[in-house]
Amino acid sequence: MQFPFHLIPAPLLAWYNTHKRTLAWRSDPTPYHVWVSEIMLQQTRVEAVKSYYDRFIEALPSVEALAACSEERLLKLWEGLGYYSRVRNMQKAARILVLEYGGVFPSDTEKLKKLPGIGAYTAGAIASIAFGRRAAAVDGNVLRVISRLTENPTEISDIAYKRALEKTLTDIYPETAEKCSAFTQSLFELGALVCKPTSPDCEACPLRALCLAYKHGNQSLFPVLPAKKAKRRESVYVFLLETPEGFCVRRREAGVLKGMNEFPSAVYERETAEQVLNGWGVYEFTEMKRKKYTHVFTHIIWDITCVWAQADVAPFDAYALDEIEESISLPTAFKQCLSILQ
Ligand code: ADE
Repeated sequence: MQFPFHLIPAPLLAWYNTHKRTLAWRSDPTPYHVWVSEIMLQQTRVEAVKSYYDRFIEALPSVEALAACSEERLLKLWEGLGYYSRVRNMQKAARILVLEYGGVFPSDTEKLKKLPGIGAYTAGAIASIAFGRRAAAVDGNVLRVISRLTENPTEISDIAYKRALEKTLTDIYPETAEKCSAFTQSLFELGALVCKPTSPDCEACPLRALCLAYKHGNQSLFPVLPAKKAKRRESVYVFLLETPEGFCVRRREAGVLKGMNEFPSAVYERETAEQVLNGWGVYEFTEMKRKKYTHVFTHIIWDITCVWAQADVAPFDAYALDEIEESISLPTAFKQCLSILQ
């Protein structure tokens, strides 16, 4: 028997109307606001996004402002969110929107998907939430909710499953623009507040009567997650190299975080920190302190040894600490090393 998908919207929309959270990007869901919030929400939790979102929109209130922003300022606004290529792509897309669309977003998902960094999910979110179009936006929340409702045994990483779900959901979108906007968000909201990854709150769920996983007590078996791949580990020195001009910062030329600023770092196997510094022409230095950190990226884990050392000559550009804190963007892997100074 086919799952009765068409029975989802009515109870879910009624629930959403009374349970939705008040979130800044919901109060004025322009395409730009929806876009910025959805890209941020792809990287981290709603709670963490709130302050980033407010600051970003205040600094760059329009597509034009984003298109014109300097790279350094943009990366500073994104500092700590990770996946910096996403914000670079946003700027590329903003420039195309300004040059080719007069700064006005298209409402059509196919046109949206042609913009850098906008895939099916983000296009669906903008088209439905901001324009009230009948367009699904399938993210991890939605995959979890539907996989439980239907007890679907397909791994949620399966692209064909995702594409099929986009189509199935698009077909059950409501008829009015206002309800289309709410329907996309109601699916996210149910996944975030009720149909949570572990310990779903089934007694509070408006879709309980439809849910096969609930009926069979199988909530913990769905969604079917792909096996986790082991991450590669690297040992890395990060140098807080303090010189009379300040602390050295340079641009990463390769590897993870390519193009981002860093405190000079080096992946090592057996080399000592001294040998690495010598390789940069730093022979005279005083080591002040060491501290170990672990930083987890998508595919790599860094075992970081942060070395704070003072030297008279700077092998790279150096900046005062307050300038680093105020206007130089540093990924979290490096920024956390500043705590060694306290
Ligand atoms: N997760 C992804 N998008 C979301 C949104 N717009 N609101 C709440 N949670 C979300």
